[in-house]
Order: sequence, then C-alpha cells, then structure tokens
Amino acid sequence: MQEPDSLILRRLIGASPQFVSGTDLAKQLEISRVGVRSRLEKLREQGFDFDAVRNRGYRITRHPLGLSTKLISAFLPEELSTLPIFLKPEIDSTNSEAERLIAQGVRDPFVVISPKQTRGRGRLGRSWHSPEEGNIYVSFVFRPELPPSQMNTFTLWMGVNICRYLEELCDLRLGVKWPNDILAGQKKIAGILTEARIDSDRTRDLILGIGLNVNCDCSQWDEELSQKAVSLSQLTGRSLDLSRLAAGLINQVLKAFKQFVSGDYVQALSLDWKRYDLLKGMPIRCTQSSGQSISGVAEGIDPDGSLRLRLPDQSVTTVLSGEITLRT
Ligand code: BTN
Repeated sequence: MQEPDSLILRRLIGASPQFVSGTDLAKQLEISRVGVRSRLEKLREQGFDFDAVRNRGYRITRHPLGLSTKLISAFLPEELSTLPIFLKPEIDSTNSEAERLIAQGVRDPFVVISPKQTRGRGRLGRSWHSPEEGNIYVSFVFRPELPPSQMNTFTLWMGVNICRYLEELCDLRLGVKWPNDILAGQKKIAGILTEARIDSDRTRDLILGIGLNVNCDCSQWDEELSQKAVSLSQLTGRSLDLSRLAAGLINQVLKAFKQFVSGDYVQALSLDWKRYDLLKGMPIRCTQSSGQSISGVAEGIDPDGSLRLRLPDQSVTTVLSGEITLRT
C-alpha cells in the first residue's frame, strides 16, 4: 500500500497544472476532506505549496528540490510506487548500507539513496568523492539468479541505460568509457560500482551503486578531481530537481534490470554499445590487477562484455577487467 502523502503528491503532480478535487483525494485515501486538508497543511510545512480553489480542488504549485522519499515515490510510475526506498541523510556508503540491509533480511528489489557519503567507494579500492552538494549516491539491490559470468555485461548494460536516460533528460551527448565510467567529453559525470555475492555458480545478491554528479560545481573540487569530473548542472547551466531525477533513474534501472534477466538485451547492448562506446578506435592501455598492462586499439566489446583490443601485430585480444588510459 502506498504511503498517503506520496499518493496525494502522485495525483497532484500527475494532474499538474490542473486541479484534483478534494472529494476524489479523500475517496482514494479513504479519509475525510478535512483529513486531506490537514495532510496538505503538514506538507506545506515541509516545503510544498498548493492552490486551493472552491469547487475545483487542489493543485501543486511548489515542491522541494532535494531528495525526499515521498517525492521519489510520487514521481515513480504506479507499478513501482511501493518499491522500498531507504533515504539516508548521510551514510558511509550506500553500497555498504545495502549490504547491511541484505544481512537484516530486507527483500529485493530495494534502493538506498543519500545526498552525502562519508566513505563512498569506487572501483579498484578507490574512494568516491561524495560531498553534500546536490549529488545523488544510490544503490540498487537485486537477487537475480544469474550466472556470475553475466556480471560484466550487466554493468555495461546499466551504463548504456543510465547514459540514455541522462541524455534524454538533459539533452546532452554522453558516453561510456569501458567498463563503468559515464563521461561528457573527457570528464566523468557518473561512476558505477557493481558488487556481487556469489554462491557456487549463482549470483546471490547484486548491488549496483551509482554516483552521479548532479548539482555540484566540480571546478571547486581539488585540482586532480576538478580536471576529471563535471556535473549535469555545469553542463546544462541549471539546477536539477533531485527527487524527479532519482525517480527517473530508478525507473530506468528497474526496467533495464527486467530486460536483462529476461535475456532480451543482447542485441540491444550490442547496438547501444556502438552508439555510446567512447573508446572505439582509440589507442589505449589496459592495466590489469596483476600490474600487467596491454596496449592496443579498442575495438568494441565481445558478447561476454570483455573489451576487444587490436594489438600492434594486428591480432585481437580481449580483456575482462582493468583500468583504461588513453595513449596519445
Ligand atoms: C567508480 O567509478 O569507481 C565507481 C563509483 C561508484 C560510486 C557509487 S556512489 C553510490 C555507491 N556507494 C558507494 O560507496 N559507491 C557507489
């Protein structure tokens, strides 16, 4: 059952700029019209505002632009309105919190989201800079029953889906740097950290963590980071509504997840990768965890998600993981 405030907000946001009658809202919530009015009063105290007109009802005129569970649920499509969303005003890492919630027995799918992380984690043991500056740090938990060998393509598939969503939302041109960086030009706008717990040959729990630079000004970050990172607001010149954006992202990720587990993604990924691949035709070096590095020209991906590299002797090799640097 959806939380009553979210239900009111969903109706009002859905109808905006039209009015919704108080009687309709009262019927749907199974409360009195006075009850509706008092809920709206309480929402006003939380930064919302509404026009109230006799014989027409209510319409929403303002909502807070930060992260709010009520608003995220209200912006989600009806079928996702009961998705558990754990919003933490501050957390060490949303991926770590997701792990703790799994251990407590919370059932998938669920979402952990925060505007601030104190120990945000990146790939390869790095940290993820996570100040409270209007960004989104979010983790999704799934129990997909998939073979672990599909985890590489899972991250790539999510990468192209996130790219597509952000491109459409902000009218930008973005791309994926294999395997998990989302870039605008040469600068990183989002990173993905997929962590899985594996039982013999099945993936037990899968945590998909996304760090997205939304409203921060990365040029104010330390020199190294400010060279490498950029935010959506820097690119679009406007601040974005975080709850609306988060709801759109959640919707996209859940749809992409469904498509992935149905197996109906292979052709789409191959096409999408051609469109979003930022490395195609670039001379690169791939440094692997062993410290070994391989240089070659990037030539797209194999069906298992590994990166194809054309070597100087014109043979092709593939790498399943590693850190990519562009060679000049
Ligand atoms: C990378 O590019 O190295 C991946 C960065 C992933 C960061 C996100 S922020 C939300 C989630 N929680 C974490 O601690 N990390 C991921």
